Amino acid sequence: MLEPQGEAGQMQLDLVYLSIYIMVFVCVIVLAIFTYVLIRFRQKPGDNTIPKQVEGSTKLEILWTVVPIILLAILAVPTLKSTFTLAAKPPKAEQPVEVKVTAHQYWWEFEYPELGIKTAQELHIPTGKKVHLELTSVDVVHSFWVPSLAGKTDLIPGRKNTMWMKADKPGTYEGRCAELCGASHALMNFHVVAEKPEEFQKWVKQRQKPSSQPQTAQEKEGKKVFAQNCMGCHAIDGAGLKGPGNKGPNLAGFGDRDKIAGLLENNPENLNKWLHNPQNVKPGAHMPAIDFLKKKDLDALEAYLESLK
Ligand code: CUA
Repeated sequence: MLEPQGEAGQMQLDLVYLSIYIMVFVCVIVLAIFTYVLIRFRQKPGDNTIPKQVEGSTKLEILWTVVPIILLAILAVPTLKSTFTLAAKPPKAEQPVEVKVTAHQYWWEFEYPELGIKTAQELHIPTGKKVHLELTSVDVVHSFWVPSLAGKTDLIPGRKNTMWMKADKPGTYEGRCAELCGASHALMNFHVVAEKPEEFQKWVKQRQKPSSQPQTAQEKEGKKVFAQNCMGCHAIDGAGLKGPGNKGPNLAGFGDRDKIAGLLENNPENLNKWLHNPQNVKPGAHMPAIDFLKKKDLDALEAYLESLK
């Protein structure tokens, strides 16, 4: 947060500094007066006179009412300005990237309505462009926070909040849920992958293409296992795998993701750990343990998921 990597983050940090400067200013003056009074009016040895008793002072009352009002106004004006600027939809001329963010206990869904892409846990954005986010939740209140880029903005069921952010440089930026939302709140991580516009376009093209087809016999078997067991909650865009539900993340391009469930390094061993006992990794997650499959079928499912590009 203290090293912002884009315009929105910089605006927010400027507000933090402004409030710190005001606080330091108030602290210094109050402590200076305090120190002066302690020394100047301390009881001298042998002096037992009681000081003059004063009750009420209109001058002082006005002073300590007006000064805080002025200080709060100095803080409030830029804060309100930034709040509205950051929530406003960037003009069409700037060609912002539209993303709908939906929070679930405990994962993030990212949909690019103009590009026809739906993904989870990894938000890909182009550098140097504003990304306009429309934020909502399906269950409880969450909060979207990418410390070095922007946030925090609440995701509230039945409501749409908006914000935009921008990354100046390519990189991977950590994202967090910043609102206590249940047992795995602290594990509700995601990341933002900011890429040069050409790289981002490549990613978009890749995601818009039909999903890679299973190659080996095991992967083909895994696709069947998925169709029979997972489609109540999950879909895989581009692979023709769409069931009744979308309770769980869309797994298109799963093999390309860095992390499983936003937490574990994406490798077969961790995928096995996750499928076997999701509660161990993310307590309270709605993902059931896949312990009812034969080892052969589970291996096939894992091979298929890791093959998805
Ligand atoms: Cu979602 Cu905390």
